[in-house]
Amino acid sequence: MTHMDSIRTALFVVLALAILALVACGGGEGPIVPPPPAPPEYADKHMPEGWWADEDIIEQGRQIFIGAENIDVNCASCHGKTGKPIKAGARDFRVAERMKLYSDSVWFWRVSEGVPNTKMKPWKTKLPEEDRWKVIAYERTFGLKGLEYDVVKKTWVPVGTATKPNGAAPAADGAAPAADGKAKKDGKAAKPKASKTSAD
Ligand code: HEC
Repeated sequence: MTHMDSIRTALFVVLALAILALVACGGGEGPIVPPPPAPPEYADKHMPEGWWADEDIIEQGRQIFIGAENIDVNCASCHGKTGKPIKAGARDFRVAERMKLYSDSVWFWRVSEGVPNTKMKPWKTKLPEEDRWKVIAYERTFGLKGLEYDVVKKTWVPVGTATKPNGAAPAADGAAPAADGKAKKDGKAAKPKASKTSAD
């Protein structure tokens, strides 16, 4: 009897740990690991400037997501209108700990090319680039609402605070300090001086 009891106890502990692991890992989607990097042809693709903050764009993205734009493109039929997945295995965009590991380029790559051997199809033939960005601008509101991707710092930051990609020269390793705007100093002041040359 005591032997039986200890087996039962052991089984219970294993079960409890399994459930705990499942909960800790974001709703049974498996462990939260960073996605593979975007392939070269997508690595330099980024959200058009200002779109993360643009409510109009986000609303257009929502229309696409729920299939109102084009009945053949209905992300919500798997991912759910509220971001709660309907089809088993569809990515849960509400899990911020996972989604913040994705760069905007990785999102764009996955939406464009799909995920091989899963129900996630490539959408690039059905959605022009702009529509893919719109749907991403919407999709991120499930788990990363109010955030935008900072291409220089390689992380999600509050909308409006991302490093401007122009002025600053981003270091390849992403460790670039914030630009302090010195580059502007006496920029356009140079008047073409009518300097007489001795040849005149
Ligand atoms: C037929 C079901 C289905 C539809 C429709 C669908 N998806 Fe997915 N999607 C999935 C599944 C399943 C996965 C998980 C793939 C995996 O295991 O990595 C996924 C994953 C994703 C991911 C994350 C990819 C990754 O690397 O984790 C993104 C982003 C995504 N979908 C966006 C969209 C968008 C945008 C649309 C609409 C244009 C869409 N999906 C339509 C099933 C679907």
